Amino acid sequence: MNEFAQRVKPLIADVPGWLTDEEGEALYELARQCTGRGVILEIGSWKGKSTICLGLGARAGGGAPIFAIDPHADYRFGDFKANVERAGIADLVTPVPSLSQDAAPGFDKPIELLFVDGSHVEADVRADFDQWVPKVVEGGWVAFHDTTWTAGPRRVVGERVYRSRTFKDVRFVAGSTTIARKTAANTLADRARARYVLAVKTGFWLASTPLKKYRRLLPKSVERFGRRVLRAMQ
Ligand SMILES: C[S@@+](CC[C@H](N)C(=O)[O-])C[C@H]1O[C@@H](n2cnc3c(N)ncnc32)[C@H](O)[C@@H]1O
Repeated sequence: MNEFAQRVKPLIADVPGWLTDEEGEALYELARQCTGRGVILEIGSWKGKSTICLGLGARAGGGAPIFAIDPHADYRFGDFKANVERAGIADLVTPVPSLSQDAAPGFDKPIELLFVDGSHVEADVRADFDQWVPKVVEGGWVAFHDTTWTAGPRRVVGERVYRSRTFKDVRFVAGSTTIARKTAANTLADRARARYVLAVKTGFWLASTPLKKYRRLLPKSVERFGRRVLRAMQ
């Protein structure tokens, strides 16, 4: 059993949220590999499921601080704080009670890992991209959630990540996360890879949409096999 399955999965099992285990593990690994050149910035925390993956990854790595931007509405901020405390990462996490668009102008720390899972309205995702991606250091990572079935993030990453000249190492993690590394100028091979991954993601989206309705009826082994195939394809 790997570190994520052993240490993180039990802590997030009861935290409501939309992250798959693969997505949680990808965030954990990205946070673990942060080198101290910047902070981790999360947009959209809800009850802390992704925050915990990022925080435990940071703890296992270099201890990068995490800024968790969300309006943190009263009725669930208690749950967020309790979940973060239970995971033992409260010292690493600074909740920022704000809309991401309002917080951006005053945020001046370099970012090594940006996770975007806030408003999914296309104009807001574009604003997040425009305001926050410039703060990501060269070689830093971005991860966008809900880039499969949700039109706003899907369109923005389609245009600004998969067809970009300033991202490389593009990857898709099921169910819906697009991950990429910021670079000054990507190569032809990077762009070809990004287009290939976009085709894989589109295939996953088209194939899984009818299945989504019946997902509960599918044996877990079928789902696991599908995800293994998807990983092997990238
Ligand atoms: C899908 S949930 C996030 C789920 C979370 N990442 C997890 O793993 O459980 C979206 C969150 O984004 C927050 N949100 C919505 N619009 C936002 C905005 N403009 N700026 C920051 N957060 C926003 C909501 O309050 C909500 O908590």
